[in-house]
Amino acid sequence: MARIDGRLPTGDEKAFAVREMFNRIAPRYDLLNRLFTFGLDQRWRQRALDLVGVGPRDCVVDIGCGTGDLVELSLARGAEVVGVDFAAHMLRCARERNPDARLLQCDAPKLPLASGSANVVTCGFALRNFVSLPPVFDEMARVLVPGGRIALLEVDRPRSAFVRFGHSLYFDRIVPFLGGLLSDRHAYSYLPRSTAYLPPEYELLAMIAKSGFRSVRRQDLLLGTAQLVTAVRSDDS
Ligand SMILES: C[S@@+](CC[C@H](N)C(=O)[O-])C[C@H]1O[C@@H](n2cnc3c(N)ncnc32)[C@H](O)[C@@H]1O
Repeated sequence: MARIDGRLPTGDEKAFAVREMFNRIAPRYDLLNRLFTFGLDQRWRQRALDLVGVGPRDCVVDIGCGTGDLVELSLARGAEVVGVDFAAHMLRCARERNPDARLLQCDAPKLPLASGSANVVTCGFALRNFVSLPPVFDEMARVLVPGGRIALLEVDRPRSAFVRFGHSLYFDRIVPFLGGLLSDRHAYSYLPRSTAYLPPEYELLAMIAKSGFRSVRRQDLLLGTAQLVTAVRSDDS
């Protein structure tokens, strides 16, 4: 069994360990998310959908859909939704919550979807789990029509030293401790450490632009403990 312990894995080893970890924590994933964010995670998802204006005429692809939070919220807005994830147990939970949703088990950089088949792509808290970000951003651009929108949610580390100190106490100590008691110690100690995979803000936004997006914007959520990035697919990419 692959465990993500001290060292952060890369390449195929990371993909294997991440998939195995999410399969393991799937049954309690929603409960711990709500608990650790005091329910704010769902508000952030709604905000992401608001910012890109998800509504009844949209076809949304949710990448790294996990247990289906964003799938469910987009379906509730009347959109057509395809949720994709490579962890079978996360998808099983998504299926239980959304029996009629279209859910596909596949790898984010190789989506079995036609080019230009969606007009919104969402991705909640999955970026740091991908082996490499540029191929996933390229794939988002491929499946979107020109003018299509993306909304990407991710955790972050606050910039203010004061907030950072309090956040680190919570995120690096309390979350792994409670996560260990309620679910899986390895997974919930990986969660804070996995922020190290995220590139700095300017690099992340430049990567997205390079994949063929314009109007790339980022905003802090809850004092910089999370972030929301939106962009529009350029016409000429
Ligand atoms: C932190 S969970 C987020 C789940 C959900 N989007 C949410 O908002 O709670 C990250 C998800 O990304 C999935 N994932 C990670 N790498 C992936 C990949 N290469 N292809 C597809 N799914 C992937 C994991 O299996 C996991 O379900």
